[in-house]
Amino acid sequence: MCGIVGYVGSHVDGAALDVVMEGLARLEYRGYDSAGVALVADGTLATEKRAGKLENLRQAIIDHPLPPSSTAIGHTRWATHGGPTDTNAHPHRGGADGKLALIHNGIIENFHPLKERLVADGVKFLSETDTEVAAQLVAREYEADRDLTQAMLRAVAHLEGAFTLLAVHADSPGVVVGARRNSPLVVGLGDGENFLGSDVAAFIGHTRHAVELGQDQIVTITPDGYDVIGFDGEPTEARAYEVTWDASAAEKGGFDTFMEKEILEQPHAVADTLLGRVDPAGRLVLDEVRIPEERLRAVTRITIVACGTASYAGMVAKYAIEHWARIPVEVSLAHEFRYCDPIVDENTLVISISQSGETMDTLMAVKHARELGAQTLSICNTHGSTIPRESDAVLYTHAGPEVAVASTKAFLAQITAAYVLGLYLAQLKGGSHAEQATTILAELRGMPDKVQTVLDRMGRVKEIARFMADTRSVLFLGRHVGYPIALEGALKLKEIAYIHAEGFAAGELKHGPIALIEPGQPVFIVVPGPDTPHDLHKKVVSNIQEIRARGARTLVIAEDGDEEVVPYADEVIRVPHSSPLLQPLLTVVPLQVFALHLATAKGLDVDQPRNLAKSVTVE
Ligand code: M6R
Repeated sequence: MCGIVGYVGSHVDGAALDVVMEGLARLEYRGYDSAGVALVADGTLATEKRAGKLENLRQAIIDHPLPPSSTAIGHTRWATHGGPTDTNAHPHRGGADGKLALIHNGIIENFHPLKERLVADGVKFLSETDTEVAAQLVAREYEADRDLTQAMLRAVAHLEGAFTLLAVHADSPGVVVGARRNSPLVVGLGDGENFLGSDVAAFIGHTRHAVELGQDQIVTITPDGYDVIGFDGEPTEARAYEVTWDASAAEKGGFDTFMEKEILEQPHAVADTLLGRVDPAGRLVLDEVRIPEERLRAVTRITIVACGTASYAGMVAKYAIEHWARIPVEVSLAHEFRYCDPIVDENTLVISISQSGETMDTLMAVKHARELGAQTLSICNTHGSTIPRESDAVLYTHAGPEVAVASTKAFLAQITAAYVLGLYLAQLKGGSHAEQATTILAELRGMPDKVQTVLDRMGRVKEIARFMADTRSVLFLGRHVGYPIALEGALKLKEIAYIHAEGFAAGELKHGPIALIEPGQPVFIVVPGPDTPHDLHKKVVSNIQEIRARGARTLVIAEDGDEEVVPYADEVIRVPHSSPLLQPLLTVVPLQVFALHLATAKGLDVDQPRNLAKSVTVE
């Protein structure tokens, strides 16, 4: 949710505003309801903020230029408390003199009683936000000793909930103070300048040297350095690291949309996630492991926690891990996990899957699992993010930065990482499980080329999508690992094309949903390969016949050489042959391309769909 940038440099020129606006452009995917900046200049505070996309702010600054400055903060908002208006946009000012400016990501859960107390003390509020309460609290504390770091420290002691806060004060030029609890914040280290950001994209155009902050920490940046203290006021160490990608990876690179670019990057996302994963002795190479091998061997059950697309990767993982490693796997939507009184003990491995590593629902599920004594492992795409830090072990996906709100390459990378983990657990079991794992691993290495083959064949899918721009409803069917792919196909269409779409397990159709089928209803069917066990292929072909007989328009995704589907298909979209469990890496691609081109044909903003944000840091 909201994007946050902070900057201090040694020169008072236009740089601070430029750096912050550039950072906001890179973070706009996090929230785009409104945007704003605050600059400290000559003992005064200058702010500008506007509802709507960043462009509105940019235009406002052209119309009313801001003074040169060396110290600035900026924010792109995803509204929670208070609608997306100019007044509710951040920064919010604090203090009777309005000399403090503060921006916020997260939710301050106890803002009502805090606000009542401040109002009783005569403080006037302009907005409907929870953020303004924090701004007034920090400003009040600043009056005590005029030390912005200490003011932040005293203010956060009153706050409950999740927050990243950044503050500047007109009387403290060259200083930006940040605080974080359950919400992301990273430091960027430059030469004579330093940065803060919700993620490294905020400053990747300037430096790849970054510092991870822990929970409940306060950071103060000046042009010459940074200091970190805990919420207890004690100095604390923070871990420095190098960002492995550069600014060009987070740019469109000639494509019209990030989503298109990211779909085309999928062969690399899969290949890079496999790179260096297995050592010469056949052992999985985890990025950070605090789980001894004996503990993993003792695992008797696995629970996967994730949301949205990541949860569908988890469903694919369930089929694969259960089949290869013979360990029972349950998939739980992270936001439901705590409330179903989960049966979890020290022999349970709880695997979280998250592109951002910041999804609050998933983070809370991981924390709960740890409290219950489980081993926790994170499959994550974002170095330095919170969920891996809160987990016992991490397997990073190497999809590179994913900017489009609709997840594509991260999904393929998540499935790939889950396969690697499943094969590793199978190897730990030894015997025939280990032999099978070696064969599958060899096939997995060939999957990036097959993904590329699917991408090379997408001409007809793009045409179909364009013809279907007026479609009001699309159904998706799949069985076995095709079922989560049907769900993912439906989610992609809902989120970027705003079309009613449902994914079903094909076998469930006859238990109710078949009543939806009427003449002309488009239905995508993900068909398992003919060699899938238990005659699954035949059963899905029968399902296609059943809906075709009722007038459905069947769009069939089937393997090369599968001729049995042809008589019942209005369109056949071909994917190369693979082992049944690896097929999701191929069959999801046409569904992503379909959603992208249908949304484009409707003239929609593919990368920033309405009401959504890339990183969901509220519960
Ligand atoms: O960052 P995460 O992977 O934890 O995000 C989880 C979901 O919010 C995310 O996958 C969402 O469903 C995507 N917008 C789907 O395209």
